[in-house]
Amino acid sequence: MTHFLDINKTPPQDLRAIIDNAREMKDARAGRPKGTLDDDTPLAGHIVALIFEKPSTRTRVSFDVGVRQLGGQTMVLSGADMQLGHGETIADTARVLSRYVDLIMMRTFEEDTLLEMAQYATVPVINGLTNRTHPCQIMADVMTFEEHRGPIKGRKIVWSGDGNNVCASMVQAAGQFGFDFTYTGPEILDPEGGFLGDARKAGVNVTVERDPHKAVIGADLVVADTWVSMHDSQSSRERRHNQLRPYQVNTDLMGNAKPDALFMHCLPAHRDEEATSDVMDGPNSVIFDEAENRLHAQKAIMRYCLGI
Ligand code: CP
Ligand code: NVA
Repeated sequence: MTHFLDINKTPPQDLRAIIDNAREMKDARAGRPKGTLDDDTPLAGHIVALIFEKPSTRTRVSFDVGVRQLGGQTMVLSGADMQLGHGETIADTARVLSRYVDLIMMRTFEEDTLLEMAQYATVPVINGLTNRTHPCQIMADVMTFEEHRGPIKGRKIVWSGDGNNVCASMVQAAGQFGFDFTYTGPEILDPEGGFLGDARKAGVNVTVERDPHKAVIGADLVVADTWVSMHDSQSSRERRHNQLRPYQVNTDLMGNAKPDALFMHCLPAHRDEEATSDVMDGPNSVIFDEAENRLHAQKAIMRYCLGI
């Protein structure tokens, strides 16, 4: 069974093959209406369950459209409306769904929920974001960087802000794709120790720099994300904003990076909080390419999981 649960759980050569396949499929569709099928429709006869226990715009729509372009059908399920939200175990849900559908994509809270789904499902399971990681996003981000700037290997990527789930997958990608990674943010919001430690053990050039202006020197890419994630309590909002305000990505900060440094944000963004609108809408921002590439990258991930 080939799941897609974590950037670190898929071998680097497979991650590379997924990105190559995503590029091929994107190129092959250039200029085509979005509602048309791909030339190749390997998901014909397949049904994909998309389970959401948290809100989503990009993940929901890009998976749904991607399955349809590949000839398959989708079923979008809200966790709260399923028996899963009313006491049925994950293990039983996994075994039942596996009798109906060919692939499960799940967005949930705890990583353990996703892992249990994968353990008991007899069809592949894809991580559509947990509190801990967001691997589909980072596959789209690596694809996007390389479209604009060529190979990501050896480049310097700086994450400014909360060391959250998206940041964690970026740290893992540093090891798998061979780029240098710098985290800049307040110590209390550092990525969980395990991610940085594992990356260092794997020989990745990972640094932590508390001064954002120093951190971005020489950066090829600066990345921001929301200061309050979906799993963070709203009561922590004011405290987090106060802690993270110095790490806002604005033109002053981008001025310290390389002149052609790209800016990324997985979206949804809170404009003029974690990043200013002039950066988000500026010439080096690729935020909407990232969003588009979710579609292409995830189509390749689904094909990889199903071996088709
Ligand atoms: N970036 C991302 O995953 O967006 P959604 O929450 O809208 O799916
Ligand atoms: N870190 C954000 C990402 C949203 C796509 C969150 O978990 O809410």
